[in-house]
Parts: sequence; structure tokens; C-alpha cells
Amino acid sequence: MEDLFKKITAHCKEYGFIYPSSEIYDGLSAVYDYGPNGINLKNNLREYWWKSMVQMRRNIVGIDAAIFMHPRTWKASGHVDAFNDPLVDNRDSRKRYRADQLVEDFISKLEAKVEKEVEKARARFGESFDEILYRQTNPRVLETQQKIDATAQRLTKSLAQNDMAALGQLLTDCEIADPESGSRNWTEVRQFNLMFHTQLGNIAGEEGKLYLRPETAQGIFVNFLNVAKTSRQKIPFGIAQIGKAFRNEIVARQFIFRMREFEQMEMQFFVRPGEEMEWYDYWKSKRMSWHQALGTDPRKLRFHDHENLAHYANAAVDIQFDFPFGFRELEGIHSRTDFDLKNHQELSGKRLQYFDPESNENYVPYVVETSIGCDRMFLAMLSQGYCEEAVPDAEGEASSRVVLKLHPRLAPVQCAVLPLLKNKPELVERAQRIFDDLKLAFHCQFDDKDAIGRRYRRQDAIGTPYCITVDFDTLAEGTATIRDRDSLEQVHIPEQGLCRWIEDKISWRPLLEKADA
Ligand code: GAP
Repeated sequence: MEDLFKKITAHCKEYGFIYPSSEIYDGLSAVYDYGPNGINLKNNLREYWWKSMVQMRRNIVGIDAAIFMHPRTWKASGHVDAFNDPLVDNRDSRKRYRADQLVEDFISKLEAKVEKEVEKARARFGESFDEILYRQTNPRVLETQQKIDATAQRLTKSLAQNDMAALGQLLTDCEIADPESGSRNWTEVRQFNLMFHTQLGNIAGEEGKLYLRPETAQGIFVNFLNVAKTSRQKIPFGIAQIGKAFRNEIVARQFIFRMREFEQMEMQFFVRPGEEMEWYDYWKSKRMSWHQALGTDPRKLRFHDHENLAHYANAAVDIQFDFPFGFRELEGIHSRTDFDLKNHQELSGKRLQYFDPESNENYVPYVVETSIGCDRMFLAMLSQGYCEEAVPDAEGEASSRVVLKLHPRLAPVQCAVLPLLKNKPELVERAQRIFDDLKLAFHCQFDDKDAIGRRYRRQDAIGTPYCITVDFDTLAEGTATIRDRDSLEQVHIPEQGLCRWIEDKISWRPLLEKADA
């Protein structure tokens, strides 16, 4: 799977999906730029989210708030005091780590050890192997499992109690070493705030300290009353937003999975106090349907309840995706209570109450939030779509290809027009005419370079679902051949019907219907 991840990363660069930021200066860690194909795919993901969360819903409206916000926003939201990760430095290698991740990696190694023992036993005992009994009775497995449980318990407790000394002691007791240098010469563990900051031009000192937002949600909270009044929405209703967020991650690994500048697609749903758990369940189910509608293998998606709740939540669940490096958070669904609005009300001195005409009372609404990283969704789609397979070439000989099996609606290029032969001006001209018509409706490419087989491979590699070949039948009978990326089936369609045929295949309608099921 590590190999697959490397291949996906290389593929992204080679085919213009993603480049390291400022690469000519050797890049900037955990910051990336999207290339010509990447931006199309990303735009399609944004559009899918926006259509299903805003266009499809009478009780959700969108906004686009500024990245910079009044500094007190972040005091009220709790981010100044509590948006921290436990940082530890190694004195010998001068490398920085997240202390909790070092312990988690240690636990993962122990778990791998247990799995190896179990697999060895399975091979030894064959058919008669009773895995449950083995796990419950084998002394080596039991001893390792006890160590795993005790370590996990200490980790959870030290994080919950914000006890950095206990976390440092855990590193020592587990004899955890720097993965690069092997040194155990650690500094004490301390909290590190993840917010980037900068300075307002005309105010010196702390007062002019501005933060780059670590989540888009706060732009929604501070606008809650503005939106409620101007859009005449009644509770329950939601506000949606897509925008950049910034986090000074201590360890940023795994390509675009953990970035320092990334994009969130968030929706805050304002509800009556006491009804939040009902809506929490509702949004859990709706968001899972949104993922499944794309045809994602159901075994690659799962819910994962949070054990350590963020400072604002009374319930939280992740939708995890099985990335090439294992199941990880793709989206979060959080019941945020009235934490944010209440704190903004207190610190700003402005009433953020809603008058409910049904119950005739004023209250601070509760909030259920859905929050997905656009970049993580992008990585999930590439991980699930990337495929190496054997296929016959244009002459029917055995060959292989790399194909991105993206949902056709999300593909960066929806169709490619390919004149069969470059040196036949009548074919090229006719193909150009077809292209000029299709480009009015789709992201369409025109390609007349190289043999037709190589052109198909180029389109497969970027996930183009339909390739239209213009050949002598087009000249004689007015039909073109459409090749399906996944099945390789070819159909002949009258030239005038091409646009309609493709439109039917990539319409938003069935996708949005499924997502709303
Ligand atoms: N407003 C709630 C919030 O921000 P979160 O779980 O911290 O919650 C929500 O983030 C989503 O944002 C995550 O599920 C993930 O998809 C994305 N995300 C968070 N940190 C990220 C990072 N450093 N790089 C890329 N995506 C990130």
C-alpha cells in the first residue's frame, strides 16, 4: 500500500494534478499547488458538495466569509487557549514531533506484532485455528495486548487532563526513540498552538495580532444573525461555506492528507436546544449517503466515534476512508452545542439569540456541523480511482494501462475528441468542428498527436470517461465512435447526438438524487 501511495503521488505530479508549492525553491513542506487537471477535479468536488448541501436544500444557504477575522473571534472560539498539539523536540536530531503521535506509532508497532503472531499461528494450525481462543490464551499475545491497552489508557488520560508531564513520562517509560536518529534525548512535552498569525498594518503589538483562520466555521457563527435576518430562515436552518483554512501542523505527512494550508467545506446547522442529537443522527446518515452516491466501495468507508472530544463538542464522529495508509478521518460531524455562539455573545457583548415564533421564546441555538476537507476528499477519490490493469491495445495485443476510474461527473476532462489520423485534414477539420460544439457544454480536450492507442492511454491516466474518435465513418455516415473508459466498449453515435449522449451520462441529477436518499 505504501507503494500505491508513492505511485499516486508521482501520478499527481506527472499528469498535472498536484505540484509541490514553490518547487523551484525545493518546495514548502505540507503546502501544495493544484495543476490544470487537479483544479478541474477539485472544482467538481466543490460543486458536488455545494449542489447537494445548498442548491438541494431550502433550509441551507451559503456564504463566503473573509479569512481574516477580529482577533477576539479566536479567543471566544477557544482556539487561542485550546487549539494545541503536544510538541516534543529531540535534542540530538533537533527534529520536532507530536508526542501523542509518537505514542500512537509505538502502539501500532505493538499491534502489528500481535497480528504477526496470529498470522504465524494461523499458518501453523491451518483449518483448525481458533483465532479468538488464541488471542485469549497465548501468553506472548496476552502480554503485548496488555501493554497496548495500558499505553492507550495512559495516552487518553494525559491528553484528556492536559497533563504534558504525564505524556513525557509515557515516552520515557515506553522507551520511545526518535524514528530518525534513534535518540531518546527528549525535551519536556509542551503545548503548541496550531494557529498561524500575522500583524495588521496599522496597529502595533498584541492588539493588531491577526490569525489565519484554522477552521471556516467561525465566519459562519459570527454571521449567524445577519444571515438569519437577511435570508428569512427559521430554525432549523444551516449556513454553508467553502474556503481556505490554515494550521501550523507540527508533523505534516502523507502528501495532501495533512497540509498547512487546505480547504474546508463546512456547514453549520442551527437547531433548537435539546434537538441536536436528532439532527446529529440525521446529518451522519446524509453525509454517508453523499459519499456512497459516488460509488465508493462501502468497505472503504466507516464511522468512527471520537473518544477525545474537541473543546467545543458534546458528540463527534468521523467518516473515515481507507486511504493507502489505512483508515483515517475524511470528514467530521460534530454536535457543537451552543459553545461558539454563547462565547461570541459574551465576548462581543452582542445578543446572538434567536426568537422562535413557534415556541415564543428567545434562545441561543445549538449547532450540528459537518466538516470535510476538500483536499482529503480529492486524495480519497484518487486513491479509490487509481488502477493499473491489463487491457488489449488498439490492435488487440496484450497491453497495460494506468486508469483513474473517477466518477464520470467528477472527472477533470469529460470527453476528448480524437481525429483518427493527424495527416488527413478532412478528419482533423471535422473533429475540430465537433470539439467546438462540445466545448460549449463540457470540459473537452482535442488531441491529434501520436497513435490513437497512446492518446487513449493519456486520457485514461487523467480519468476522461469518454473518448470520441472521428474516423472515415464520420465523414461518410456522420457518426463518431465513443469509447467508454472503464468497459472499453465502443458505440457509434450520430454527430448531432453526441452532446446529448454525454450530457445524459454526466448529468448531476442521478448523483444528487442518490446523495439525498
Ligand atoms: N470545524 C470543525 C473542524 O475544523 P476538524 O476535524 O479539525 O474539524 C475538519 O477538520 C476536516 O478538515 C477534517 O475532517 C479534514 O478533512 C480536514 N482537515 C483538517 N485538518 C487538515 C489538514 N491539516 N490538512 C488537510 N485537511 C485537513
